[in-house]
Amino acid sequence: MTSSLFSVAVVLFAGSAAAAPFAGGSANLETRGSNWMNQWHPDAKGYVDYGFNSTFGIGWDNATQIRLAYRGCDGMSVSFSTNNRQDTPQVRYGLNSSNLKYTETSPVSITYASSPKYENHVVLEGSSPTPNYYQICDGPVHSFTTARCAGDMTPYSAAVVVDLGTMGQYGLLPSASSSAYNSSQMNTIQRLVAQADDYDFVAQPGDFAYADYWVKEQSGGTSNLTIQDQMLAYNIINEAFFDEISAFSSQKAFMVGVGNHEANCINGGSGAYGEDICVPGLTNFTQYKARWNMPGDGSASNNFWYSFDVGMTHYVVFNTETDLPPPYYGGDVIGGHDGMFEANVGAYPNAQIDFIVNDLASVDRKKTPWVVALGHRPWYSATAPANLFTPGISVFEPVFTKYNVDLVMQGHNHILTRTFPVWKNGTVQQYNYTEPQAPVYMVNGAAGHWSGLDPVYTPFPDWVGFANNTMYSYSKLTFHNSTHLTHAFMNSANNAVIDEVTIVKTH
Ligand SMILES: [Fe+2]
Repeated sequence: MTSSLFSVAVVLFAGSAAAAPFAGGSANLETRGSNWMNQWHPDAKGYVDYGFNSTFGIGWDNATQIRLAYRGCDGMSVSFSTNNRQDTPQVRYGLNSSNLKYTETSPVSITYASSPKYENHVVLEGSSPTPNYYQICDGPVHSFTTARCAGDMTPYSAAVVVDLGTMGQYGLLPSASSSAYNSSQMNTIQRLVAQADDYDFVAQPGDFAYADYWVKEQSGGTSNLTIQDQMLAYNIINEAFFDEISAFSSQKAFMVGVGNHEANCINGGSGAYGEDICVPGLTNFTQYKARWNMPGDGSASNNFWYSFDVGMTHYVVFNTETDLPPPYYGGDVIGGHDGMFEANVGAYPNAQIDFIVNDLASVDRKKTPWVVALGHRPWYSATAPANLFTPGISVFEPVFTKYNVDLVMQGHNHILTRTFPVWKNGTVQQYNYTEPQAPVYMVNGAAGHWSGLDPVYTPFPDWVGFANNTMYSYSKLTFHNSTHLTHAFMNSANNAVIDEVTIVKTH
């Protein structure tokens, strides 16, 4: 089934010079590696046997890392991780926390090479648009609210983040010298938890844990890394991320899209290391495919492109990393921008674009007057021109313009950018937001990339209405009615509005 109505939080990050979680260099690397191995129960040789569906973490079999996702307006997908395979993953649920009288089960308990976990996916159907309570195995009771149904014109907000990243010891650390994030301030994950009453759901189109950067950016290309070292570092960072987000993703739907850091274990390779240091489970988006359960028809591409409705809004998630129609290339496939070797996921080369065109052509704007597109790499952003995803201008822009997409949310660059309504290869359609005829683009890759924020590139092109790279941020979308939509870049540190604009549009 498809998804529904809610407030959405989307986080986009991009970073450059904040606190580095790990100092580079082989000496530090070895120290860290040694500590991690002790932490994660190495064998007599000092290696962790992740392996390949091994018994990593025996005795810790409680369900963790809960991720909810909308399924229409009366259902919810409940995904969770366990240390062992579950014969029949099970979720109990109901409207009364002390009487969970319904039970849903699933045959889906899967893993991938190198993972310490099994990913379990259960879909609950027939839920009410009131708070629903649920329990996995014998764990704590949580609650969720299903999406507002399409056509429900009740005002709501959503949160959007991109490039969120792992926080703390294995990711973005506070810095005493940073005005953007010091130890007295909240990071974006903490902020999303604190403000959970302010939005219906969270969306993140790409770049989650940044676990792949460990080898590329910390080894300096000189360390004598082994595959075991790599798996250890990757998994510790990755597990930390999924543990952290569970604080909000266990109570709010978390609708995701794919980014370049989901592609493989090393983000294309660095120094002496190429993608061949990655075990198969850490190539070809294998982890991303296993961990999430987005709406769709059950095909392999479901987590890569799909759509869902929440109240007065239709959302379409698109994929800049693979599956662009010839002669263009997704960013992570052979021939693409990043020199990676990942594979397309669609049944045929035009599968993604055909889906998006058919999806947008069938939107009932009386029910869902607003249309928001969510994807990873931007083609309009206050970054260096070399960082722009130029195929997007040929592949996606004409479709979004033709079908009257109102707002496009992206990240990848660790900065904030708000454009004016823009179309036709960078032509500003108008310099205000009243009755725009072209999409407005927002880049918010400033959610929490592990090494900080990126530079903004000046002079700004004339389509840039606002840009900033001094604060960590999430985006808050507020749908007031069929004619007024407010986008705000929110400062994660204090929840103050950094920049706000209201699009006024008669649909
Ligand atoms: Fe990215």
